[in-house]
Amino acid sequence: MSGNYLIDTHTHINMIEKLSLDEILENAGKNNVKKLIVPASNAADIDEVFELSQKYDNVYCYLGIHPSEAKDWNDTIEEKIRTLAKSPKVVGIGEIGLDYYWDKSFVELQKEIFIKQIKLANELNLPVNVHDREAHKDTFDILKEHNKNSTVIMHCFSGSPEFAAECIKEGWYIAIGGVVTFKNAKKMKEVAGTIPLERLLLETDSPYLTPVPYRGDENQPAYVKFVAEEIAKIKEISYNEVVSATTQNAERIFVI
Ligand code: NI
Repeated sequence: MSGNYLIDTHTHINMIEKLSLDEILENAGKNNVKKLIVPASNAADIDEVFELSQKYDNVYCYLGIHPSEAKDWNDTIEEKIRTLAKSPKVVGIGEIGLDYYWDKSFVELQKEIFIKQIKLANELNLPVNVHDREAHKDTFDILKEHNKNSTVIMHCFSGSPEFAAECIKEGWYIAIGGVVTFKNAKKMKEVAGTIPLERLLLETDSPYLTPVPYRGDENQPAYVKFVAEEIAKIKEISYNEVVSATTQNAERIFVI
């Protein structure tokens, strides 16, 4: 039975600066993180994360264009993703979505490219790894209107418990990262307490959002255990229960 090890379902190991890839993977292994999924963000990333997934047995990838990089999207990229996605190591389209925090100057383009990538995921029958920053309503509405058959994962979830409940009602998954360990993250702790284990995934989003007790340092997949520990504490269940349930969810969704 699977489940006594962790899976980091969203880590940009290609962006970690202080450690080599071998060190990152070694630390992950030592901390019982057995599988990693690396999202693409921009056009250059697509080749990079795909190559990582081909090079390392336990590294998988999502291919897609981040909303802040929406200008990178074109037919060539779309065709490239369609071709690369034939590999079983490509387990989703991501990270895609809407980001109204960094730049609101091209919201319409962000929406258009988000919709195109949802349709591509539907065609390829792959899950979507969704980035939603300060764009909860539009993200929800677009997914509800345009997604037909892809499993939806709300990566780095940052909404309210009420919004989480709406997402759960749609059959979507919520991925939680290091923010839940921050002392002042009252809303995230509430969210973690209310999401059923069957709908929960763990991630680090490293090198960003490093959990306590390493907050301030660069994040890495090994630290996903602190997210699991915090969720166990909040839910008043065992650490192993959190690990086992989230790993089973990830293996089922991404067929890894
Ligand atoms: Ni990310």
